[in-house]
Amino acid sequence: MLQILPSIFAADFTRLGEDVRRVESAGIQMLHVDVMDGHFVPNFTVGTPITESLSRFTHVKLDHHLMIEDPDTFAPIFIKAGADCVSVHYEVCRNLDRTLHMIQDHGAKAGVVINPATSVRLLENVLDVADYVLVMSVNPGYGGQKFIPNTLSKVRDLARVRAERNLGFAIEIDGGVGPENIAEVAKAGVDWAVVGTHVFRAADPALAIRDMLKTAEEALSVKV
Ligand code: DX5
Ligand code: ZN
Repeated sequence: MLQILPSIFAADFTRLGEDVRRVESAGIQMLHVDVMDGHFVPNFTVGTPITESLSRFTHVKLDHHLMIEDPDTFAPIFIKAGADCVSVHYEVCRNLDRTLHMIQDHGAKAGVVINPATSVRLLENVLDVADYVLVMSVNPGYGGQKFIPNTLSKVRDLARVRAERNLGFAIEIDGGVGPENIAEVAKAGVDWAVVGTHVFRAADPALAIRDMLKTAEEALSVKV
């Protein structure tokens, strides 16, 4: 069943704790933390102090999406600070297999991320190593962007390959997800849907999560 991962990028950082408590009340299992370095993407976000504070504050898992040029240096630092899952971009990893194993050796789940312009076929040789694959459905760097629909074909391909090869990685999607496309996202085979704007900018974030989960559940229960 699909999970919603609220992206704290869209939270109000002057009251981050309150925003986290709001989404916890919808029964979430993970929060998504976007880490940007101003090099790989044209924006900056948060560092380890936020991870440390969050890991003391909440029992939900912390999924870290590293949009940074040097994940080999910083992944262990974020894991030490409390990251439970760490994903790295295919586009910056020269030794991706080594990087994924290094994250796992530090005690976290290891994910690989592909940008909209990156083919899912390039992941063929790491699908038996990665704990999850994150398909970007917008170009990384900003919240509130429009969902790129053809990224769902990558999700379908991943779900098919996973079944064919009997693998266990989870499929995550990130960017532009909301009530209008959550049914399609669920039907394509997504396990973890990251949602920023449509959760934290909603009048009632917990209700927004529950509504999307209900829509996803209904979409999955329709027999075709
Ligand atoms: C974009 C980030 C996303 C973003 C999603 O680079 O990786 O996690 O916060 O936000 P929305 O849901 O607003 O597209
Ligand atoms: Zn993200």
